[in-house]
Amino acid sequence: MRKFIQRALNKLEKLDRERIHQLIYDIAVENERLELVLNSMNDGVLVADENHRLVLHNKPVERLLPLNLADPGEGFIWELIADPHIAVFVERTLLEQESIMDQEFAIDAGGLTRILSCSVMPLVRNGTVQGNILRVEDISEKRNREARLRRAESLASLTTLAAGVAHEIKNPLGSIGIHIQLIQRALAAEGIRESASVQGNLHVINEEIERLNKIVVDFLFAVRPMDVTLEYGDLNRLLQELLDFVDVELEEAGISIETDLAGELPELLLDDKYLKHALLNIVKNAISAMPEGGTLRLDTRLRGDEVVLRVIDNGVGMSDQVLEKIFEPYFTTKDFGSGIGLTLVYKVLREHNAEISVVSQEGKGTTFTITFRVPQKEQHLLDWHEEADA
Ligand SMILES: Nc1ncnc2c1ncn2[C@@H]1O[C@H](COP(=O)(O)OP(=O)(O)O)[C@@H](O)[C@H]1O
Ligand SMILES: [Mg+2]
Repeated sequence: MRKFIQRALNKLEKLDRERIHQLIYDIAVENERLELVLNSMNDGVLVADENHRLVLHNKPVERLLPLNLADPGEGFIWELIADPHIAVFVERTLLEQESIMDQEFAIDAGGLTRILSCSVMPLVRNGTVQGNILRVEDISEKRNREARLRRAESLASLTTLAAGVAHEIKNPLGSIGIHIQLIQRALAAEGIRESASVQGNLHVINEEIERLNKIVVDFLFAVRPMDVTLEYGDLNRLLQELLDFVDVELEEAGISIETDLAGELPELLLDDKYLKHALLNIVKNAISAMPEGGTLRLDTRLRGDEVVLRVIDNGVGMSDQVLEKIFEPYFTTKDFGSGIGLTLVYKVLREHNAEISVVSQEGKGTTFTITFRVPQKEQHLLDWHEEADA
C-alpha cells in the first residue's frame, strides 16, 4: 500500500471532510494512472487472488486470449479463458502452485495462427502468496522474424557454397577444353583414318563443355553481389558493339538485323560490362526463339526524360503462362537452358534504375522494352544557375 494512504488511514478519524475528499481523489488519480499503464502495455495481464478468482486484468489480455467476461461470476480464473489449452495450463499451474515462464501456445485468431507466450508468477506480499499473475505475450511477429532471418541466412550460406563450387568447376572445365583441342590437333597432324568420327565426338564434347561453362558463368554472375559502377555512356555505341560481337552468330542462324537508333541520345548512367552481358542474354534468347531464322530489330528513342530501347524478334513467342515466369530464377523451357539469363537481366537493369517489360505472341514474336531514365545533369546545372542568380 502506498505510504501516503497508509499514513492517512492511521489518522483517518482526525481528518475533516475536505481532507478525506482530497485523499479519495488522490487515490482515484493514482488508480487511474496504474490502470493506464496496465492498458498501455503490449502484454496481457491477469491477476488472480489466492482463491484463483479474477481480481484485475488489463485491456490487451481481452484481445490476446480472448476472455469470456460476459459472466465473470464467482468462477475460477481459468474458466474465463476461451482457449481450452491455455485454460488447462493455467488451472494446472495454479492448483499445483507452480510458477512457469514462457509456455508457448499456438491459437487460432480469426483464421490466423498466433503464438502466445504465457507465464504464471506468484504474487507475493510479506512472504506470503496472495494470488498469481498471468502474463500473456504475443510473440508471433518475433517468431516470424526469427524464421525469416534463419531462412535468409541459410539461403545466403547455400548461395555462397554453390558459388564456391561453381567457381571450382570452371578451372577443370577450362583445362579439359584445352586438352581436347590438343587431341584434335594431334589427330589432325597424325592423319589417322578414324579421325573424322573421333573429331566429331570431340566436337560434341567441346560443345558440352561450352554449355557447362556458360551455366557456371551465368550462375556466378547471378549470385555474386554486383559491383556495378555507373558511368556516363552512349547506349547506341554499346548496342553497336554488342551487334558486332554477335554478328557471325546471327548470320549463321539466318537472322537479319534491323536497327533504328535515335540520332542524338543523351548520355545515360551505364555499367558497360554488366549491361552488355544483360543485353547479350536478351539477344541470345531471341536467337534461340528463331531457329528457322528471322529478323532481330533493335531500336532506341528518346521519350520525354526517358530513353526507350526495344529488342524485337519474330520468333516463336511465348504463351501467357510462360511469360509470367520468365524472370524467375531457373525457369526455362529449353532442354539445356539454365533459366538464369533473364533473372540476371532483371538484376542488372534494377541496378541501372531501368524498367523492363515484355510483350509476346505465340508464333508471332517477342518484344522486350527497356526504359532508362535520363540522368538530370542538365537539370541540376539549371537549378544551380537559378540559385546563383537569386
Ligand atoms: N525472345 C524470346 N522468345 C521466346 N521465348 C523467350 C524469349 N526470351 C525468353 N524466352 C523464354 O524465357 C525463358 C527463360 O529465359 P532465360 O532466363 O534466358 O533462360 P534460358 O534462356 O536458359 O531458358 C526461356 O526458356 C524461354 O522460354
Ligand atoms: Mg537465356
